[in-house]
Amino acid sequence: AQHKARQKILEALKLSHEQLLEVKQRMRIEMEKGLGKETHAEAAVKMLPTYVCSTPDGTEKGDFLALDLGGTNFRVLLVRVRNGMRRGVEMHNKIYSIPVEIMQGTGEELFDHIVHCISDFLEYMGMKGVSLPLGFTFSFPCQQTSLDELHPLGITPFIPTPLQEFDLDVVAVVNDTVGTMMTCGYEDPYCEVGLIVGTGSNACYMEEMRNVELVEGEEGRMCINMEWGAFGDNGCLDDIRTEFDLAVDELSLNPGKQRFEKMISGMYLGEIVRNILIDFTKRGLLFRGRISERLKTRGIFETKFLSQIESDCLALLQVRSILQHLGLESTCDDSIIVKEVCAVVARRAAQLCGAGMAAVVDKIRENRGLDFLKVTVGVDGTLYKLHPHFSTVMHETVKQLSPKCEVTFLQSEDGSGKGAALITAVACRIREAGQ
Ligand code: BG6
Ligand code: GLC
Repeated sequence: AQHKARQKILEALKLSHEQLLEVKQRMRIEMEKGLGKETHAEAAVKMLPTYVCSTPDGTEKGDFLALDLGGTNFRVLLVRVRNGMRRGVEMHNKIYSIPVEIMQGTGEELFDHIVHCISDFLEYMGMKGVSLPLGFTFSFPCQQTSLDELHPLGITPFIPTPLQEFDLDVVAVVNDTVGTMMTCGYEDPYCEVGLIVGTGSNACYMEEMRNVELVEGEEGRMCINMEWGAFGDNGCLDDIRTEFDLAVDELSLNPGKQRFEKMISGMYLGEIVRNILIDFTKRGLLFRGRISERLKTRGIFETKFLSQIESDCLALLQVRSILQHLGLESTCDDSIIVKEVCAVVARRAAQLCGAGMAAVVDKIRENRGLDFLKVTVGVDGTLYKLHPHFSTVMHETVKQLSPKCEVTFLQSEDGSGKGAALITAVACRIREAGQ
């Protein structure tokens, strides 16, 4: 009976093929809204123009500095691009930590810290005082009016002026999805989509200029930063959101916002799991009905944990020891249940992400009037990389929902900073050609 009761609760987190198809179709509708001039203002999925239109042609060269402000790490990179050689890129980088207070503080504090890190890095590379073009990738939403300008949504607009202190020429500012697409695009010319499944989740892709109504011009293509994490913020996913999703949202830093992301990405999956476990325990279906203080603590299940607990080679005893490590006393049965909850939550995340991706690749295909499209998606993010099943489930979902597309997923090994440097290199080449 207890088993049945648990299954009944988990049922709400299992999505049918029809539901996933529905998610794909709704994503498509939201994409159109974000792109449309009349509908953009109230659209949940913002579809931000990035002003990135061209990909590397192999003639770029020079030394570039890149900053990669990711979900987990802040990296400063020196990227050396050699002329005429694919793969002729040499990279040096150093990872810096950003204290939480600074991350959640004002933009100004953040940039002061960044300036400090750049200065340290240049010294470390023995390049103090050298002036280099700079590309910057970031993992927060930004409205842009050109390639080198930045207006974070919801924060006071600012341009990273302190960077000028070093005589650094900020040539390109791009979202991490865009950097990832470019990093992978350097290896694979079919790469026209970027995807991040890490702390947060988001995607970008090459859209036809004629459909980008917010920007003048009809010719060619432009990369669009979808900011798909906000999908559902207008209520269009309410029928599939469960009480656990609502609870996670309510306790988050930005209630009501980024609803799709909160069902997919690493920052939230552990919280969904924790809320389900609390519910089970309250009903006497787990942990002998006793809710420990530990279980009430927010954020105890990191992405790492979800990945570990689902790894196939892990014996139940080890699952128990992980739980114990987290301060949760469990029986053998408890650990089986926890593992199943993790699996259901991660599977749904991967399927939802796949449904979103299916909408993207089908739109690209239809844009080009093709019956069949071959396309590559460049992917980064710790959840995608570390979770034992996420990628497989997502790939399957895309295949099922977009049968007319052959989608290859290329995992980014070099981070999005390399892509930012390449975008900078292209911009410099174009700038020089124009002079
Ligand atoms: C990194 C990219 O590899 O992945 C970053 O270089 C990106 O730009 C990050 O933000 C996303 O993953 P996570 O797991 O760190 O949020
Ligand atoms: C969040 C940010 C988005 C970023 C994503 C992945 O959704 O809003 O800009 O791309 O996280 O890091």
